[in-house]
Amino acid sequence: MSATVSSGAGLRPEPFTLVIFGATGDLTNRKLLPALYQLFAAGRLPEEFTVVGFSRRPAEEFHAKVGEALAGHARDPGFARFREGFFYTQGDFEDADAYRRLSDLLGETDRKRGTCGNRLYYLATPPSAYEAIVAALGKSGLVGHPRRSTGGGWTRIIVEKPYGHDLESARALTRTIQGVFAENQVYRIDHYLGKETVQNLLVFRFGNGIFEPLWNRQFIDCVQITVAESLGVEGRGEYYDQTGAIRDIVQNHLLQLLTLVTMEPPVAFSAEAVRGEKVKVLKAIRSLTTQDTLERTIRGQYQSGVVGGRAVPGYREEPRVAPGSRTETFVALKLFVDNWRWSGVPFYLYTGKRLPSRTTDIAIWFRRAPHLLFRETNIKEVEPNLLLVKIQPEEGITLRFGAKVPGPAVQIETVDMDFSYSTSFRVPSRDAYERLLLDAMLGEQTLFTREDEVEEAWRVVTSILEGWRASPPDPLPTYPAGTWGPEEVDALLKRDGRHWHHWA
Ligand code: BG6
Repeated sequence: MSATVSSGAGLRPEPFTLVIFGATGDLTNRKLLPALYQLFAAGRLPEEFTVVGFSRRPAEEFHAKVGEALAGHARDPGFARFREGFFYTQGDFEDADAYRRLSDLLGETDRKRGTCGNRLYYLATPPSAYEAIVAALGKSGLVGHPRRSTGGGWTRIIVEKPYGHDLESARALTRTIQGVFAENQVYRIDHYLGKETVQNLLVFRFGNGIFEPLWNRQFIDCVQITVAESLGVEGRGEYYDQTGAIRDIVQNHLLQLLTLVTMEPPVAFSAEAVRGEKVKVLKAIRSLTTQDTLERTIRGQYQSGVVGGRAVPGYREEPRVAPGSRTETFVALKLFVDNWRWSGVPFYLYTGKRLPSRTTDIAIWFRRAPHLLFRETNIKEVEPNLLLVKIQPEEGITLRFGAKVPGPAVQIETVDMDFSYSTSFRVPSRDAYERLLLDAMLGEQTLFTREDEVEEAWRVVTSILEGWRASPPDPLPTYPAGTWGPEEVDALLKRDGRHWHHWA
Protein backbone atom coordinates (compact mmCIF):
# COMPACT_ATOMS: atom_id res chain seq x y z
CA MET A 1 0.00 0.00 0.00
CA SER A 2 1.26 3.51 -0.64
CA ALA A 3 0.37 6.98 0.53
CA THR A 4 1.17 10.32 -1.06
CA VAL A 5 2.55 13.14 1.00
CA SER A 6 3.75 15.42 -1.77
CA SER A 7 1.43 18.35 -2.08
CA GLY A 8 2.39 18.81 -5.73
CA ALA A 9 2.00 15.16 -6.73
CA GLY A 10 0.20 14.73 -10.04
CA LEU A 11 -0.77 18.41 -10.36
CA ARG A 12 -0.06 20.51 -13.41
CA PRO A 13 0.69 24.23 -13.09
CA GLU A 14 -1.56 26.85 -14.66
CA PRO A 15 -0.27 28.51 -17.87
CA PHE A 16 2.57 30.91 -16.98
CA THR A 17 5.80 32.50 -18.21
CA LEU A 18 9.13 31.73 -16.62
CA VAL A 19 11.47 34.73 -16.88
CA ILE A 20 15.10 33.68 -16.36
CA PHE A 21 17.51 36.48 -15.43
CA GLY A 22 21.01 35.30 -16.29
CA ALA A 23 19.63 33.17 -19.11
CA THR A 24 23.00 32.63 -20.81
CA GLY A 25 24.75 31.59 -17.59
CA ASP A 26 26.03 28.31 -16.28
CA LEU A 27 23.13 27.53 -13.94
CA THR A 28 20.56 27.95 -16.71
CA ASN A 29 22.48 25.59 -18.96
CA ARG A 30 23.49 22.95 -16.49
CA LYS A 31 20.43 22.80 -14.27
CA LEU A 32 17.38 24.82 -15.32
CA LEU A 33 17.03 23.88 -18.99
CA PRO A 34 17.52 20.13 -18.48
CA ALA A 35 15.08 20.18 -15.54
CA LEU A 36 12.48 22.10 -17.56
CA TYR A 37 12.78 19.69 -20.43
CA GLN A 38 12.37 16.68 -18.15
CA LEU A 39 9.22 18.24 -16.68
CA PHE A 40 7.91 18.88 -20.17
CA ALA A 41 8.73 15.35 -21.35
CA ALA A 42 6.96 13.93 -18.29
CA GLY A 43 3.84 15.93 -19.20
CA ARG A 44 4.08 18.11 -16.08
CA LEU A 45 4.07 21.48 -17.89
CA PRO A 46 1.03 23.23 -19.35
CA GLU A 47 0.77 23.48 -23.14
CA GLU A 48 1.12 27.27 -22.92
CA PHE A 49 4.40 27.08 -20.95
CA THR A 50 6.65 29.96 -22.03
CA VAL A 51 10.24 30.92 -21.20
CA VAL A 52 11.61 34.43 -21.54
CA GLY A 53 15.38 34.71 -21.20
CA PHE A 54 16.89 38.00 -20.04
CA SER A 55 20.60 38.79 -19.98
CA ARG A 56 23.28 41.09 -21.35
CA ARG A 57 24.40 38.72 -24.12
CA PRO A 58 22.92 38.78 -27.65
CA ALA A 59 19.83 36.71 -28.41
CA GLU A 60 21.74 34.33 -30.76
CA GLU A 61 23.93 33.32 -27.85
CA PHE A 62 20.90 32.45 -25.73
CA HIS A 63 19.28 30.36 -28.45
CA ALA A 64 22.59 28.61 -29.21
CA LYS A 65 23.01 27.76 -25.54
CA VAL A 66 19.48 26.41 -25.27
CA GLY A 67 20.23 24.27 -28.33
CA GLU A 68 23.45 22.97 -26.77
CA ALA A 69 21.92 22.24 -23.39
CA LEU A 70 19.11 20.23 -24.97
CA ALA A 71 21.05 18.77 -27.91
CA GLY A 72 20.39 15.19 -26.78
CA HIS A 73 16.62 15.69 -27.08
CA ALA A 74 16.34 17.50 -30.43
CA ARG A 75 14.75 14.44 -32.09
CA ASP A 76 12.28 13.70 -29.32
CA PRO A 77 8.60 13.95 -30.26
CA GLY A 78 7.27 17.27 -29.01
CA PHE A 79 10.70 18.90 -28.82
CA ALA A 80 9.87 21.49 -31.49
CA ARG A 81 6.73 22.43 -29.55
CA PHE A 82 8.81 22.89 -26.39
CA ARG A 83 11.30 25.13 -28.25
CA GLU A 84 8.51 27.29 -29.71
CA GLY A 85 7.86 28.66 -26.25
CA PHE A 86 11.32 30.29 -25.88
CA PHE A 87 11.72 34.09 -26.18
CA TYR A 88 14.47 36.51 -25.23
CA THR A 89 15.15 40.10 -24.20
CA GLN A 90 18.66 41.47 -24.25
CA GLY A 91 19.45 44.12 -21.70
CA ASP A 92 21.38 45.39 -18.75
CA PHE A 93 19.94 44.49 -15.36
CA GLU A 94 19.92 48.14 -14.33
CA ASP A 95 18.49 49.60 -17.51
CA ALA A 96 14.87 50.78 -17.18
CA ASP A 97 14.36 50.51 -20.96
CA ALA A 98 15.22 46.83 -20.87
CA TYR A 99 12.39 46.27 -18.37
CA ARG A 100 10.00 48.19 -20.60
CA ARG A 101 10.91 45.84 -23.43
CA LEU A 102 10.46 42.90 -21.08
CA SER A 103 7.05 44.20 -20.08
CA ASP A 104 6.00 44.53 -23.74
CA LEU A 105 7.24 41.05 -24.52
CA LEU A 106 5.36 39.60 -21.54
CA GLY A 107 2.17 41.35 -22.69
CA GLU A 108 2.68 39.85 -26.13
CA THR A 109 3.33 36.32 -24.87
CA ASP A 110 0.26 36.59 -22.64
CA ARG A 111 -1.82 37.37 -25.71
CA LYS A 112 -0.21 34.95 -28.11
CA ARG A 113 0.31 32.01 -25.81
CA GLY A 114 -2.40 32.50 -23.24
CA THR A 115 -0.12 32.71 -20.21
CA CYS A 116 -2.75 34.76 -18.34
CA GLY A 117 -0.38 37.28 -16.70
CA ASN A 118 1.17 34.54 -14.51
CA ARG A 119 4.89 35.14 -14.01
CA LEU A 120 7.65 33.21 -12.33
CA TYR A 121 10.92 35.14 -12.17
CA TYR A 122 14.16 33.25 -11.65
CA LEU A 123 17.29 35.04 -10.39
CA ALA A 124 20.03 32.93 -11.97
CA THR A 125 22.53 35.79 -12.16
CA PRO A 126 25.53 36.48 -9.95
CA PRO A 127 24.10 37.59 -6.56
CA SER A 128 25.50 41.11 -7.02
CA ALA A 129 22.69 41.71 -9.54
CA TYR A 130 19.78 40.53 -7.32
CA GLU A 131 18.94 43.83 -5.67
CA ALA A 132 19.02 45.81 -8.93
CA ILE A 133 16.73 43.30 -10.67
CA VAL A 134 14.23 43.16 -7.82
CA ALA A 135 14.10 46.95 -7.54
CA ALA A 136 13.69 47.34 -11.32
CA LEU A 137 10.89 44.76 -11.43
CA GLY A 138 9.10 46.72 -8.73
CA LYS A 139 9.56 50.07 -10.45
CA SER A 140 8.43 48.82 -13.84
CA GLY A 141 5.14 47.50 -12.51
CA LEU A 142 6.10 43.91 -13.29
CA VAL A 143 5.16 42.59 -9.87
CA GLY A 144 1.52 41.94 -9.21
CA HIS A 145 -0.06 42.13 -5.78
CA PRO A 146 0.33 38.77 -3.99
CA ARG A 147 -3.39 38.08 -4.19
CA ARG A 148 -4.87 40.25 -6.90
CA SER A 149 -2.21 40.94 -9.48
CA THR A 150 -2.61 43.77 -11.97
CA GLY A 151 -2.49 41.50 -15.01
CA GLY A 152 -5.00 39.17 -13.36
CA GLY A 153 -2.36 36.54 -12.73
CA TRP A 154 0.16 35.60 -10.06
CA THR A 155 3.79 36.72 -9.69
CA ARG A 156 6.49 34.72 -7.89
CA ILE A 157 10.26 34.97 -7.67
CA ILE A 158 12.87 32.24 -7.18
CA VAL A 159 16.10 33.43 -5.55
CA GLU A 160 19.22 31.30 -5.97
CA LYS A 161 21.93 30.93 -3.37
CA PRO A 162 24.12 32.52 -2.11
CA TYR A 163 21.53 34.59 -0.26
CA GLY A 164 23.77 37.27 1.21
CA HIS A 165 27.34 37.09 2.41
CA ASP A 166 26.67 37.32 6.13
CA LEU A 167 23.77 38.17 8.45
CA GLU A 168 23.87 41.87 7.63
CA SER A 169 23.84 41.47 3.83
CA ALA A 170 21.15 38.73 3.99
CA ARG A 171 18.94 41.13 5.95
CA ALA A 172 19.59 43.91 3.44
CA LEU A 173 18.61 41.60 0.58
CA THR A 174 15.45 40.59 2.43
CA ARG A 175 14.54 44.26 2.92
CA THR A 176 14.93 44.93 -0.81
CA ILE A 177 12.92 41.84 -1.76
CA GLN A 178 10.19 42.53 0.76
CA GLY A 179 9.92 46.11 -0.50
CA VAL A 180 8.61 44.63 -3.74
CA PHE A 181 7.34 41.08 -3.07
CA ALA A 182 5.28 39.61 -0.26
CA GLU A 183 6.91 36.64 1.52
CA ASN A 184 4.38 34.24 -0.03
CA GLN A 185 5.72 35.22 -3.48
CA VAL A 186 9.37 34.49 -2.62
CA TYR A 187 10.98 31.08 -3.23
CA ARG A 188 14.55 30.86 -1.83
CA ILE A 189 16.21 27.80 -3.28
CA ASP A 190 18.41 25.36 -1.45
CA HIS A 191 18.64 22.52 -3.95
CA TYR A 192 19.35 19.98 -1.18
CA LEU A 193 15.69 20.26 -0.18
CA GLY A 194 14.72 19.01 -3.63
CA LYS A 195 16.65 15.76 -3.23
CA GLU A 196 14.44 12.69 -2.66
CA THR A 197 16.71 11.35 0.04
CA VAL A 198 16.58 14.62 1.95
CA GLN A 199 12.79 14.76 1.80
CA ASN A 200 12.75 11.17 2.95
CA LEU A 201 14.23 12.32 6.27
CA LEU A 202 10.84 13.77 7.17
CA VAL A 203 9.02 10.64 6.04
CA PHE A 204 11.46 8.41 7.90
CA ARG A 205 11.07 10.36 11.12
CA PHE A 206 7.39 11.26 11.04
CA GLY A 207 5.89 8.52 8.86
CA ASN A 208 7.11 5.70 11.11
CA GLY A 209 6.29 5.00 14.72
CA ILE A 210 9.49 3.30 15.84
CA PHE A 211 12.22 5.89 15.37
CA GLU A 212 10.84 9.08 16.87
CA PRO A 213 10.72 7.77 20.47
CA LEU A 214 14.50 7.16 20.23
CA TRP A 215 15.21 10.47 18.56
CA ASN A 216 16.57 12.46 21.49
CA ARG A 217 19.41 12.96 23.96
CA GLN A 218 18.50 9.87 25.98
CA PHE A 219 19.27 7.49 23.12
CA ILE A 220 21.43 9.42 20.67
CA ASP A 221 25.10 9.95 21.50
CA CYS A 222 26.06 12.21 18.60
CA VAL A 223 25.22 13.02 14.99
CA GLN A 224 27.72 13.45 12.16
CA ILE A 225 26.63 15.13 8.93
CA THR A 226 29.00 14.93 5.97
CA VAL A 227 28.95 16.64 2.59
CA ALA A 228 32.18 15.42 0.99
CA GLU A 229 33.03 16.28 -2.59
CA SER A 230 35.78 14.91 -4.80
CA LEU A 231 35.39 17.86 -7.19
CA GLY A 232 37.47 21.01 -6.86
CA VAL A 233 36.17 24.48 -7.70
CA GLU A 234 35.50 23.56 -11.36
CA GLY A 235 36.07 26.90 -13.06
CA ARG A 236 34.22 28.81 -10.31
CA GLY A 237 37.44 30.10 -8.71
CA GLU A 238 36.32 33.71 -8.62
CA TYR A 239 33.02 32.93 -6.86
CA TYR A 240 34.51 30.35 -4.53
CA ASP A 241 37.44 32.47 -3.43
CA GLN A 242 34.98 35.05 -2.06
CA THR A 243 32.81 32.37 -0.51
CA GLY A 244 34.65 29.41 0.99
CA ALA A 245 33.19 26.17 2.30
CA ILE A 246 31.37 27.71 5.26
CA ARG A 247 29.25 30.01 3.11
CA ASP A 248 29.02 27.64 0.14
CA ILE A 249 27.87 24.52 2.01
CA VAL A 250 27.53 25.00 5.80
CA GLN A 251 25.23 28.04 5.80
CA ASN A 252 22.71 26.32 3.56
CA HIS A 253 22.97 22.60 2.76
CA LEU A 254 24.52 21.39 6.02
CA LEU A 255 22.36 23.51 8.30
CA GLN A 256 19.27 22.45 6.36
CA LEU A 257 20.17 18.79 6.89
CA LEU A 258 20.79 19.47 10.58
CA THR A 259 17.42 21.20 10.82
CA LEU A 260 15.53 18.28 9.27
CA VAL A 261 17.24 15.87 11.67
CA THR A 262 16.50 17.95 14.77
CA MET A 263 13.16 19.72 14.20
CA GLU A 264 10.06 18.82 16.19
CA PRO A 265 7.16 17.14 14.36
CA PRO A 266 5.14 19.83 12.54
CA VAL A 267 1.38 19.86 13.08
CA ALA A 268 0.80 19.53 9.33
CA PHE A 269 2.79 18.98 6.16
CA SER A 270 2.24 22.57 5.11
CA ALA A 271 4.74 25.30 4.27
CA GLU A 272 3.97 27.36 7.37
CA ALA A 273 3.95 24.44 9.81
CA VAL A 274 7.14 22.80 8.50
CA ARG A 275 9.07 26.04 8.18
CA GLY A 276 7.85 27.25 11.56
CA GLU A 277 9.38 24.14 13.21
CA LYS A 278 12.59 24.53 11.23
CA VAL A 279 13.01 28.09 12.44
CA LYS A 280 12.42 27.08 16.05
CA VAL A 281 15.23 24.57 16.01
CA LEU A 282 17.57 26.87 14.08
CA LYS A 283 17.02 29.43 16.83
CA ALA A 284 18.18 26.85 19.36
CA ILE A 285 21.59 26.36 17.70
CA ARG A 286 24.15 28.00 19.93
CA SER A 287 26.26 30.76 18.31
CA LEU A 288 30.01 30.32 18.74
CA THR A 289 32.31 32.65 20.67
CA THR A 290 35.85 33.28 19.46
CA GLN A 291 37.09 30.71 21.98
CA ASP A 292 34.51 28.21 20.68
CA THR A 293 35.70 28.70 17.11
CA LEU A 294 39.23 27.85 18.25
CA GLU A 295 38.06 24.71 20.01
CA ARG A 296 35.20 23.55 17.83
CA THR A 297 36.04 24.43 14.23
CA ILE A 298 38.75 23.21 11.85
CA ARG A 299 39.29 24.69 8.44
CA GLY A 300 41.72 23.83 5.72
CA GLN A 301 42.65 24.28 2.09
CA TYR A 302 43.56 21.58 -0.41
CA GLN A 303 46.96 21.31 -1.96
CA SER A 304 47.80 19.36 -5.09
CA GLY A 305 47.25 15.63 -4.87
CA VAL A 306 45.56 12.68 -6.52
CA VAL A 307 41.80 12.20 -6.69
CA GLY A 308 40.33 9.13 -8.36
CA GLY A 309 43.74 8.24 -9.83
CA ARG A 310 44.15 11.68 -11.43
CA ALA A 311 46.71 14.30 -10.41
CA VAL A 312 44.97 17.59 -9.57
CA PRO A 313 46.32 21.07 -8.79
CA GLY A 314 46.15 22.72 -5.39
CA TYR A 315 43.45 25.29 -4.61
CA ARG A 316 45.81 28.26 -4.99
CA GLU A 317 46.76 27.06 -8.49
CA GLU A 318 43.12 26.97 -9.66
CA PRO A 319 42.18 29.60 -12.29
CA ARG A 320 40.94 32.89 -10.81
CA VAL A 321 41.96 32.04 -7.26
CA ALA A 322 44.29 34.52 -5.53
CA PRO A 323 47.79 32.96 -5.28
CA GLY A 324 47.98 33.75 -1.55
CA SER A 325 44.31 32.91 -0.87
CA ARG A 326 43.30 31.94 2.67
CA THR A 327 39.83 30.77 1.66
CA GLU A 328 38.87 27.47 3.29
CA THR A 329 37.92 24.54 1.07
CA PHE A 330 37.27 22.35 4.10
CA VAL A 331 35.41 22.88 7.38
CA ALA A 332 34.59 20.60 10.26
CA LEU A 333 32.76 21.90 13.29
CA LYS A 334 30.84 20.93 16.37
CA LEU A 335 27.49 22.54 17.14
CA PHE A 336 24.99 22.22 19.98
CA VAL A 337 21.23 22.56 19.82
CA ASP A 338 20.13 24.07 23.10
CA ASN A 339 16.69 22.65 23.67
CA TRP A 340 15.03 19.95 25.77
CA ARG A 341 15.38 17.21 23.14
CA TRP A 342 19.02 17.76 22.17
CA SER A 343 20.74 19.28 25.18
CA GLY A 344 24.36 18.05 25.35
CA VAL A 345 24.29 16.07 22.06
CA PRO A 346 27.12 17.17 19.76
CA PHE A 347 26.41 17.66 16.05
CA TYR A 348 29.57 17.33 13.99
CA LEU A 349 29.42 18.85 10.51
CA TYR A 350 32.03 18.00 7.88
CA THR A 351 32.48 19.30 4.36
CA GLY A 352 35.28 19.75 1.88
CA LYS A 353 36.31 19.80 -1.72
CA ARG A 354 38.84 17.39 -3.24
CA LEU A 355 38.16 14.71 -0.65
CA PRO A 356 38.56 11.05 -1.68
CA SER A 357 34.93 10.55 -2.71
CA ARG A 358 31.59 12.25 -3.16
CA THR A 359 29.62 11.21 -0.13
CA THR A 360 26.74 12.95 1.57
CA ASP A 361 25.33 11.19 4.60
CA ILE A 362 24.01 11.58 8.12
CA ALA A 363 25.36 9.24 10.77
CA ILE A 364 23.25 8.93 13.89
CA TRP A 365 25.18 7.19 16.64
CA PHE A 366 23.16 5.71 19.46
CA ARG A 367 24.40 5.30 23.01
CA ARG A 368 26.12 2.04 23.87
CA ALA A 369 24.15 -0.71 25.58
CA PRO A 370 24.19 0.29 29.27
CA HIS A 371 25.31 -3.06 30.66
CA LEU A 372 27.80 -5.52 29.22
CA LEU A 373 26.20 -8.90 29.56
CA PHE A 374 29.01 -10.88 28.00
CA ARG A 375 31.73 -10.31 30.63
CA GLU A 376 32.74 -13.96 30.81
CA THR A 377 33.65 -13.87 27.14
CA ASN A 378 36.36 -12.06 25.19
CA ILE A 379 34.05 -9.17 24.46
CA LYS A 380 35.31 -5.98 26.06
CA GLU A 381 32.95 -3.52 24.50
CA VAL A 382 29.85 -3.67 22.33
CA GLU A 383 29.91 -1.28 19.38
CA PRO A 384 27.23 1.42 19.48
CA ASN A 385 24.39 1.18 16.96
CA LEU A 386 24.61 3.40 13.93
CA LEU A 387 21.84 4.60 11.67
CA LEU A 388 23.31 5.88 8.44
CA VAL A 389 21.11 7.97 6.17
CA LYS A 390 22.78 7.91 2.76
CA ILE A 391 21.91 10.92 0.64
CA GLN A 392 24.32 10.52 -2.31
CA PRO A 393 25.70 8.94 -4.40
CA GLU A 394 24.28 5.86 -2.70
CA GLU A 395 20.71 6.51 -1.68
CA GLY A 396 19.30 4.59 1.22
CA ILE A 397 19.45 3.85 4.93
CA THR A 398 21.64 1.40 6.82
CA LEU A 399 21.15 0.26 10.39
CA ARG A 400 24.27 -1.20 11.96
CA PHE A 401 23.96 -3.48 14.96
CA GLY A 402 25.80 -6.30 16.70
CA ALA A 403 25.06 -9.94 15.80
CA LYS A 404 26.36 -13.19 17.17
CA VAL A 405 28.96 -14.84 14.97
CA PRO A 406 27.83 -18.45 14.41
CA GLY A 407 29.72 -20.95 16.55
CA PRO A 408 29.95 -22.25 20.13
CA ALA A 409 31.67 -19.13 21.57
CA VAL A 410 29.88 -15.83 22.09
CA GLN A 411 31.43 -13.47 19.61
CA ILE A 412 29.80 -10.30 18.33
CA GLU A 413 30.30 -8.64 14.99
CA THR A 414 28.58 -5.59 13.59
CA VAL A 415 26.33 -6.22 10.60
CA ASP A 416 24.34 -3.90 8.33
CA MET A 417 20.65 -3.96 7.53
CA ASP A 418 20.21 -2.04 4.30
CA PHE A 419 17.45 -0.20 2.49
CA SER A 420 18.38 1.06 -0.95
CA TYR A 421 16.23 3.29 -3.11
CA SER A 422 17.38 1.69 -6.34
CA THR A 423 16.47 -1.87 -5.33
CA SER A 424 13.23 -0.99 -3.53
CA PHE A 425 11.73 1.46 -6.00
CA ARG A 426 13.56 0.80 -9.29
CA VAL A 427 12.98 4.32 -10.53
CA PRO A 428 15.84 6.78 -10.98
CA SER A 429 15.82 9.76 -8.59
CA ARG A 430 14.86 12.97 -10.37
CA ASP A 431 17.11 15.98 -10.26
CA ALA A 432 16.39 18.28 -7.33
CA TYR A 433 15.73 21.23 -9.66
CA GLU A 434 12.85 19.41 -11.35
CA ARG A 435 11.02 19.02 -8.07
CA LEU A 436 11.75 22.56 -6.89
CA LEU A 437 10.82 24.24 -10.18
CA LEU A 438 7.56 22.32 -10.26
CA ASP A 439 6.74 23.29 -6.67
CA ALA A 440 7.38 26.97 -7.40
CA MET A 441 5.18 26.73 -10.50
CA LEU A 442 2.44 25.25 -8.31
CA GLY A 443 2.85 27.84 -5.55
CA GLU A 444 4.05 25.25 -3.02
CA GLN A 445 6.61 26.79 -0.62
CA THR A 446 7.38 23.96 1.84
CA LEU A 447 10.73 23.06 0.24
CA PHE A 448 11.91 26.67 0.00
CA THR A 449 13.55 28.54 2.85
CA ARG A 450 11.70 31.32 4.61
CA GLU A 451 13.37 34.65 5.36
CA ASP A 452 13.76 33.92 9.10
CA GLU A 453 15.29 30.48 8.40
CA VAL A 454 17.98 32.04 6.24
CA GLU A 455 18.69 34.68 8.87
CA GLU A 456 19.03 32.16 11.69
CA ALA A 457 21.46 30.11 9.61
CA TRP A 458 23.45 33.27 8.95
CA ARG A 459 23.45 34.12 12.66
CA VAL A 460 25.28 30.86 13.41
CA VAL A 461 27.67 31.16 10.47
CA THR A 462 28.38 34.83 11.11
CA SER A 463 29.38 34.02 14.69
CA ILE A 464 31.96 31.59 13.27
CA LEU A 465 33.16 34.08 10.65
CA GLU A 466 33.66 36.67 13.37
CA GLY A 467 35.59 34.22 15.54
CA TRP A 468 37.78 33.29 12.58
CA ARG A 469 38.44 36.95 11.86
CA ALA A 470 39.45 37.57 15.47
CA SER A 471 41.88 34.63 15.64
CA PRO A 472 43.11 33.62 12.19
CA PRO A 473 45.17 30.39 12.17
CA ASP A 474 48.69 30.91 10.92
CA PRO A 475 49.38 29.14 8.70
CA LEU A 476 45.99 27.93 7.49
CA PRO A 477 45.95 24.11 7.78
CA THR A 478 46.19 22.28 4.46
CA TYR A 479 45.50 18.79 3.16
CA PRO A 480 46.62 16.98 0.04
CA ALA A 481 43.80 16.63 -2.50
CA GLY A 482 42.40 13.10 -2.26
CA THR A 483 42.63 12.85 1.56
CA TRP A 484 39.93 13.32 4.19
CA GLY A 485 41.03 16.84 5.21
CA PRO A 486 43.68 18.40 7.48
CA GLU A 487 45.19 16.19 10.19
CA GLU A 488 43.72 18.41 12.91
CA VAL A 489 40.24 17.18 12.06
CA ASP A 490 40.77 13.81 13.70
CA ALA A 491 41.48 15.48 17.05
CA LEU A 492 38.13 17.29 17.03
CA LEU A 493 36.40 13.96 17.66
CA LYS A 494 39.19 12.02 19.35
CA ARG A 495 39.22 14.34 22.31
CA ASP A 496 35.50 13.59 22.72
CA GLY A 497 36.29 9.83 22.58
CA ARG A 498 34.67 9.46 19.15
CA HIS A 499 35.75 8.97 15.54
CA TRP A 500 34.43 10.10 12.15
CA HIS A 501 32.42 7.23 10.76
CA HIS A 502 33.92 7.44 7.27
CA TRP A 503 37.45 7.33 8.68
CA ALA A 504 36.86 4.01 10.46
C1 BG6 B 1 26.38 23.98 -4.49
C2 BG6 B 1 27.75 24.54 -4.22
O1 BG6 B 1 25.41 24.69 -3.76
O2 BG6 B 1 26.34 22.62 -4.11
C3 BG6 B 1 28.82 23.73 -4.95
O3 BG6 B 1 27.82 25.89 -4.64
C4 BG6 B 1 28.68 22.27 -4.61
O4 BG6 B 1 30.12 24.20 -4.62
C5 BG6 B 1 27.25 21.79 -4.82
O5 BG6 B 1 29.56 21.54 -5.46
C6 BG6 B 1 27.05 20.39 -4.31
O6 BG6 B 1 25.78 19.94 -4.71
P1 BG6 B 1 25.50 18.41 -4.95
O7 BG6 B 1 24.05 18.35 -5.28
O8 BG6 B 1 26.40 17.97 -6.07
O9 BG6 B 1 25.86 17.73 -3.67
